[in-house]
Amino acid sequence: MSYCSKVVSCGAYLPQRVMTNVEMSSMVETDDSWIEKRTGIKQRHIAAEGEFTSDLGFAAAKSALVAASLRPDSIDLIVCATSTPDETFPATATRIQHRLGIRGGAAFDVQAVCSGFIYALSVADNFVRCGQAKRVLVVAAETFSRILDWSDRSTCVLFGDGAGAVVLESIASNGADKQRGVLSTHIYSDGDHHDSLYVDGGPGSTRTTGFLRMRGREVFKHAVTRMAEAIDTALEANALTPGDIDWMVPHQANIRIIEAMAKRLNLSMDQVVVTIDKHANTSAASIPLALYSGVSDGRIKEGDVLLLEAMGGGFTWGSTLLRW
Ligand code: ACO
Repeated sequence: MSYCSKVVSCGAYLPQRVMTNVEMSSMVETDDSWIEKRTGIKQRHIAAEGEFTSDLGFAAAKSALVAASLRPDSIDLIVCATSTPDETFPATATRIQHRLGIRGGAAFDVQAVCSGFIYALSVADNFVRCGQAKRVLVVAAETFSRILDWSDRSTCVLFGDGAGAVVLESIASNGADKQRGVLSTHIYSDGDHHDSLYVDGGPGSTRTTGFLRMRGREVFKHAVTRMAEAIDTALEANALTPGDIDWMVPHQANIRIIEAMAKRLNLSMDQVVVTIDKHANTSAASIPLALYSGVSDGRIKEGDVLLLEAMGGGFTWGSTLLRW
């Protein structure tokens, strides 16, 4: 018997506090029009004092479970993508597991920065495919506001906090062409580019958390090239063409990157889920937050083919094709 994973539901959570570009311009030398023109961002959500990544992840996970009318104890694996864990250890996934009241199965974190959701989905899908998990909660949760240098205008305007989650369920693969589920995941990394995007601290080096540092132009250039390659590989692996894609649900780093990807695939921007204006870059959480937005407002419908793509620190990058 061979298995594949169906995505049965999704959920999301955003902290209550909204910080607009206008408010940002009272903190660093910037302005609304620079931020919007260069990035597409208008506002971002910021976690409250004492509100942790696991709180955001728990809320998103709960909303995904409620959407599928599932009991938490039916989950046998939790994979949490985050680069802003509550603590160095234990894994944020175990805190989410505890909050959900789950005592069995396994829970661990995956760290691939902005590609974290694609990585976590890939790990979860492979657990399902090899028969080691039946129902998996994939959570992506971030509080990037905690690792930003709030005096560095070139980075602090770009990020926000939030969380998204999906539930994957093992189904018997019948080999049918139109079977719903994860069609493929392709993940990549190249550690050569560490200095273009990193956090300048950590428990094993400085014993501090550190702050995010980025050479934006370098990241931009590589993002466009690498994600294009990952998309081509995904289409080829599934014998699909860009014309088969109903929705692109991209990582939300910069509207110009998103538009470049859509143009390359000849997709209209009406086929792209864009949330960067409202959420900014929520790192690993940005794809499931966008997915939730497209599903909850009825744009994404059963049977639609979705293309997910991301690029992040490492560099890491990847793509996923799935039939909703
Ligand atoms: N407000 C006003 N001016 C600013 C700001 C700001 N917030 N930030 C930078 N500037 C200035 C710079 O100082 C520079 O001024 P100068 O010309 O006088 O030197 C000018 O604006 C241009 O700066 P650039 O950095 O060259 O601007 P660019 O057009 O490249 O846009 C940006 C910067 C938005 C960061 C872009 O490069 C980008 O989006 N890069 C990709 C980021 C990305 O994809 N990240 C994803 C991964 S994130 C992760 O994994 C955590």
